[in-house]
Amino acid sequence: MNNLNSQHSDSTINSEIDFAFDKQHIWHPYTSMSQAAKVTGVHSADGCELTLSDGQVVVDGTSSWWACIHGYNRPEIIDAMQHQLTTLSHVMFGGITHAPAINLCKRLVDMTSPNLTKVFLADSGSIAVEVAMKMAMQYWQGKNQPLKQQLLTVKRGYHGDTFAAMSVCDPDNGMHTMFGNAVTEQLFAPAPLSGFNQALVDGDTDALEAILKANHQHIAALIIEPIMQAAGGMHFYSADYLVALRALCDKYQVLLILDEIATGFGRIGKLFAYEYANIEADILCLGKALTGGYISLAATICSDEVAQGISDSPAGVFMHGPTFMGNPLACAAADASLAILQTGKWQQQVSDIESQMTLELAEAIHYQHVKDVRVLGTVGVIEMDSAINTGALQQAFIQLGVWIRPFGNVIYITPPYTINAAQLTKLTTAMKTIAADMTQEQSSADTFSNG
Ligand SMILES: Cc1ncc(COP(=O)(O)O)c(C=O)c1O
Repeated sequence: MNNLNSQHSDSTINSEIDFAFDKQHIWHPYTSMSQAAKVTGVHSADGCELTLSDGQVVVDGTSSWWACIHGYNRPEIIDAMQHQLTTLSHVMFGGITHAPAINLCKRLVDMTSPNLTKVFLADSGSIAVEVAMKMAMQYWQGKNQPLKQQLLTVKRGYHGDTFAAMSVCDPDNGMHTMFGNAVTEQLFAPAPLSGFNQALVDGDTDALEAILKANHQHIAALIIEPIMQAAGGMHFYSADYLVALRALCDKYQVLLILDEIATGFGRIGKLFAYEYANIEADILCLGKALTGGYISLAATICSDEVAQGISDSPAGVFMHGPTFMGNPLACAAADASLAILQTGKWQQQVSDIESQMTLELAEAIHYQHVKDVRVLGTVGVIEMDSAINTGALQQAFIQLGVWIRPFGNVIYITPPYTINAAQLTKLTTAMKTIAADMTQEQSSADTFSNG
């Protein structure tokens, strides 16, 4: 099933990759250096396809972990970056400002809910989460409530791999036990039960409210991924649940942090997932697709009220300021990516992808080891009844001409919005082929990690 018809003509490209050096010296995400997992060489990317180092061309079902929403090699983003590279690639942000940051932040303030007005540019999603947590803690210091320093969240969440972000990831599947006391103890309510498009299931927020009632004097903020818990298994939940959380946060005087790092910028059908619930966050985290996947950048946006609280705190300033903050090159890429989004074409693209995936994946529910099939926006999921062997299946997907990286017990795709119908069919067909062939022996426990 090797798709020889899409071999790249340049047969020399394989030689550019020194796999032996890679294996000996380079960490990859969630891997061991003594038992290196197989890695696939990639030579280049264009549109929705990756050209592998052996010349094979595969359709990208991942958008490079949710990021590359407009496809690879978009002239608008590349031109903006090339111009920026020769104008001002980087300059410190302490005491300095520049047009790329201002242009980008204007768009962000414009696109997000009206209460969100103050933008902190961070280096990555995990750092955006750290920043959000620090903002919430400093806010309450400014409100003369210095005891409010803990975070409340729900199980099955994922917010990143740095220490504070880890502390609010799922306590069982996350990395809490590995690092002992170094991971701050936070408060966990059960994961939402109410499904997407369902009303709130009776009692779904009861345990969470009980925690708030008993501990609100110590809780700075509630953090959650709105509508979709991504790396926790691609679970979609009810907008009513979010509405209820917003009301509970107000009732118990706790800030609401929405982590839209995976869901933001149209990925699940709305520009931001909170729009399903028509609520506003006090603090919003964005990342991944912010630059269209061209370079790392994230943002944490808060309300005037939160910013004022931070100013009133003993420090009087927000205590964070990384070296590459507001990197002009990244800002220029993000500005160009958001300009593409603001043309509004993404809405039709996302809706078409959703309809096609819904139609094409539906039959998989009848396969022996399939537990569930679900689609929302551009996220298509086949959930298996047991954990998957990511490494083995990844190679099988390449044989089928696609790049898909399953994890836990889910085979999922998050393609670029620009994917065409034939490419999407190739992805859904590969997903069904693998899911239909799956036997219990092919499954093995996989780590919980970046979705
Ligand atoms: C919801 C969510 N928050 C935070 C992160 C962490 O972002 P990053 O990998 O850029 O640090 C991720 C990454 O998958 C995520 O899905």
